Amino acid sequence: MDRSPMNKHFLSNLTGSFAMPAMENPTVAMVEAAYQHHQLDWRYINCEVSPEHLKDAVLGARAMGWAGFNCSIPHKVAVIEHLDGLGQSAEIIGAVNTIVRRARGEYIGENTDGRGFVTALTEVTDPRGSQVVLFGAGGAARAVAVEMAFAGASHITVVNRSRERGEELTRLIGEKTPATATFAIWDGDFPLPADTDIVINATSIGLYPNIDQQLNIHWETLTADMVVADGIHNPPMTPLLRTAQQKGCKFVNGQQMLVHQGAIGIHYWTGITVDTGVMHAALREIFNPE
Ligand SMILES: NC(=O)c1ccc[n+]([C@@H]2O[C@H](COP(=O)([O-])OP(=O)(O)OC[C@H]3O[C@@H](n4cnc5c(N)ncnc54)[C@H](OP(=O)(O)O)[C@@H]3O)[C@@H](O)[C@H]2O)c1
Repeated sequence: MDRSPMNKHFLSNLTGSFAMPAMENPTVAMVEAAYQHHQLDWRYINCEVSPEHLKDAVLGARAMGWAGFNCSIPHKVAVIEHLDGLGQSAEIIGAVNTIVRRARGEYIGENTDGRGFVTALTEVTDPRGSQVVLFGAGGAARAVAVEMAFAGASHITVVNRSRERGEELTRLIGEKTPATATFAIWDGDFPLPADTDIVINATSIGLYPNIDQQLNIHWETLTADMVVADGIHNPPMTPLLRTAQQKGCKFVNGQQMLVHQGAIGIHYWTGITVDTGVMHAALREIFNPE
């Protein structure tokens, strides 16, 4: 057997994440598990990058030939000015979470949050023709709303605490996507319209450490024929999903969304469709180790 080191190469393909804080980012474990499972000589490096160093970090990634990277809070909008272009839905959403190096070395910003959500949701229901009630109007809600609209949702009711953000998202859906949208202010227990097919939490309500926080919904209006989806990944079983389960609704949790958005990112970078079961297992080990 030829044991010459010259027959091997030691230059891995590099990807990673720029965020602040970065310490508790579970994506690194999930993506590295997929790389290892598929025997890809790729690495995912979790980097804490402050806003004032974002430009240098992107230049550094370019200099080192990174194949791409994720951006999370607080860089999803700020990174855009350092890129060479945007994918179609990232352009509409106005935020980027995945940067992909194209053939000529240009860095293109994509947004996989909404697509990951839709892929997870499609495992339990078909979004085409659906009536959606969407709680929240921040970055996650924008991504989810745009991708739900392009996946065929017919109407989205945006329910948000602050009017300005809610109305802005409602306008965006009406003007830039095939779906129609209305805004409802969220100032008490919200009654779900009887024709609602899909209820989505895209707020940060229920996120660790506020694990007992519940959405203000008029619960008698939630019926078993509605599908409930929660964007919160930690913990995966939120008070909203527990109520949905008690009511007999089908439901989707935020870890499923997280896994699928990660798998879409890996596909962008490597061209490989990864086994999402391996990624789920890596997250389970972090969040539910017993
Ligand atoms: N699973 C995944 O892959 C994934 C991906 C991305 C994000 N997420 C999750 O999505 C959540 C939202 O992220 P984001 O980036 O959209 O945050 P964001 O831009 O800060 O938006 C937060 C949203 O939550 C609403 N909100 C927060 N606290 C509230 C309360 N007590 N009552 C009513 N509304 C409240 C805000 O309403 P106002 O406009 O009135 O402030 C706003 O609509 C986070 O928990 C994040 O972990 C999950």
